[in-house]
Amino acid sequence: MSLLIKNGEIVTADGRMHADVYCEGETITRIGAALEAPPDATVVDASGKYVFPGFIDPHVHVHLPFMGTFAKDTHASASQAALVGGTTTFIEMCAPSRGDDLLEGYEAWKGMADGQSACDYAFHMAVPRFDERAAEQLREVVGDGTTSFKVFLAYKDFFGVYDDELFGALSLARELGVITTAHTENADLVAKLQQKLLAEGKTGPEWHEPSRPVRVEADGVHHFATFLEATGARGYVVHLSCEAALEAAIAARRRGVSLAIEVVAPHLLLDASYAERPDFEGAKYVMSPPLRTKADARSLWHALEAGLIDTVGTDHAPFDFAGQKDMGRDDFTRIPNGIPGIEERVKLLYTYGVSRGSLDLHRFVASASTNAAKLFGLFPRKGAIAVGADADLVVWDPAQRSTIRAANQAMPVDYSGFEGFEIDGRADMVSVRGVVQVEDGRFTGEAGRGQLLRRDPVDG
Ligand code: URP
Ligand code: ZN
Ligand code: ZN
Repeated sequence: MSLLIKNGEIVTADGRMHADVYCEGETITRIGAALEAPPDATVVDASGKYVFPGFIDPHVHVHLPFMGTFAKDTHASASQAALVGGTTTFIEMCAPSRGDDLLEGYEAWKGMADGQSACDYAFHMAVPRFDERAAEQLREVVGDGTTSFKVFLAYKDFFGVYDDELFGALSLARELGVITTAHTENADLVAKLQQKLLAEGKTGPEWHEPSRPVRVEADGVHHFATFLEATGARGYVVHLSCEAALEAAIAARRRGVSLAIEVVAPHLLLDASYAERPDFEGAKYVMSPPLRTKADARSLWHALEAGLIDTVGTDHAPFDFAGQKDMGRDDFTRIPNGIPGIEERVKLLYTYGVSRGSLDLHRFVASASTNAAKLFGLFPRKGAIAVGADADLVVWDPAQRSTIRAANQAMPVDYSGFEGFEIDGRADMVSVRGVVQVEDGRFTGEAGRGQLLRRDPVDG
């Protein structure tokens, strides 16, 4: 099995050159000018196109039991949607809840993905409870190659941890060399504000943001950073949404706290006015942390352009509008939180960052692929175009134009949060470990090709 990509312009996080890429089996074996291939090789002409390393989405929910329902995806559907958007690896939150056995949860998530995913995947292991048994089980999970944890300061008594548990989880993470990702909103404050708003008769989706204002998130970031400092663990804030939280994260870094920052596509491109749409349509845009002001989104873009933000993910969490989001028609606290996006992340970031914005093309690759690979122990196998790396490649045609429509999406959800957004560029060809999975922007590949990526802890 061999694959030759000819005449393209290779663009990575730190380099750019016109060259051919030759892959044998699952691996890139040669990069150079005018490469020859055997007659049975698959040859892709990338003239006038970019060749990017496969993109990595560091924050995805596929199987998600949450708020009285389940996210509407399978590993087959999520991975195929990821691939048509150019994402060749995603990291899913393995999220058992507080009452569940952690190891049983981990095995269940693995079992659901096994043989189903068309692209490669890994897990962040949630820690919804921490005690001796949890510690023992987490050691096993890390030993199995799942070397990142997830803690929620929000959603208390479901996914959330108490402070003594947070301290224990981070101390273990430090000992094992594991990075801990965190949803940083102060759960108690959110609960109080929700109660107050509902008591005032404020029940619509537009009240979701006021129930979780920016200071609640900034407080969460500061709190998490304080615990990282006390334990010496490495941290990663997921879906950071606003300038106040960004300031808290950067202040922590200045004190020497090891803290990476993720933003997600909805916070870059949507704002709180979407959740104010009439006839309950605002429910489509309810996620946590909530959509913020346009000024907050601008601050995130500036920080991304300046290299202060490490990764751009999706927080893909698909719930139908009809039958799921409308569970909260009379009470915004019951609207399942989340916006789908695994299919759209790369094209949105390319269009509104690179093509129509000021995001450097290398920063685009770094934030959508390479930085996640480095932070989560996948580099240089993933996130790179180099001899020896996995042949996960995206041939990107910058000349293509399209408009996002739910009616055309691969994701099995009844709406798109980005309906009507114009798009520049398309992932024409996408390969996963040397096998072409997407041709002419459509999934044509092997449904179960994806593998669980077992990772070593990252020093540092
Ligand atoms: O609203 C969100 N973000 N839903 C998914 C669960 C989470 O908090 O990441
Ligand atoms: Zn979250
Ligand atoms: Zn999430």
